[in-house]
Amino acid sequence: TTRMPLIAGNWKMNLDHLQAVAFVQKLHWTLKDAGHDHSTVEVAVFPPFTDLRTVQTLLDADKIPFALGAQDLSTHDSGAYTGEISGAFLSKLDVRYVIIGHSERREYHAEGDDVVAAKVQAALRHGLVPVICVGETSEDLEKFGASAVPVSQLRAALDGVAADADIVVAYEPVWAIGSGQAATPEQAQDVCAKLRDVVAEALDADAAARTRVLYGGSVKAANIAGFMREPDVDGALVGGASLLVDEFSSIIRFQK
Ligand code: G3H
Repeated sequence: TTRMPLIAGNWKMNLDHLQAVAFVQKLHWTLKDAGHDHSTVEVAVFPPFTDLRTVQTLLDADKIPFALGAQDLSTHDSGAYTGEISGAFLSKLDVRYVIIGHSERREYHAEGDDVVAAKVQAALRHGLVPVICVGETSEDLEKFGASAVPVSQLRAALDGVAADADIVVAYEPVWAIGSGQAATPEQAQDVCAKLRDVVAEALDADAAARTRVLYGGSVKAANIAGFMREPDVDGALVGGASLLVDEFSSIIRFQK
């Protein structure tokens, strides 16, 4: 495979802008001390909105080779939408990625497939790469098996997306998020392969071959290698472990 692995750290609502600076510097130096080769894996951090400007300035000033991502964006481009953040603002801050459809947005903000699809369109309009999150709850798993819900969520999210669009897909079984109970590499591989097939149907075969499909849900240093050995798992979307410098740097430095 020629797909560059992507290790993405979703900070969720953690680390204010001062803590963010300390964290990013520490992570950078830890990787540097370990002699990490940045050409082998792409690292992205997803801080809260209020940290983005500060982190962008730091990455730029210290030439730190991490990509910047946001955790959400508005479906709208500008206007009377109090509290919302436009994709236009994000792209001006050198934000490259934006998480869309995370289960916490789906659950606590009632974001359905229609909102997720509109946000994917908003991200693409502004040159951002949507990291489209899909995944089944434990009830879904019992009723429909592992892949039915994520497959239908991804089909909905890709409605109207052009074949040459730059996207990332993240398979995050809801039961594995923050639970300490990760999927097995085999389970992740099975669903990630099916999601890649959805990309092939909705976009085309080229898109399916180039799109990174990540696994997320209780990823840590001790289990990353197993996921990365699977042919259709191209990286990880990491929550809790992305806030721990040593743990996250070990994940980044996974060995196949
Ligand atoms: O976006 C990240 C996922 O929700 C995974 O979170 O690594 O804490 O389980 P976690």
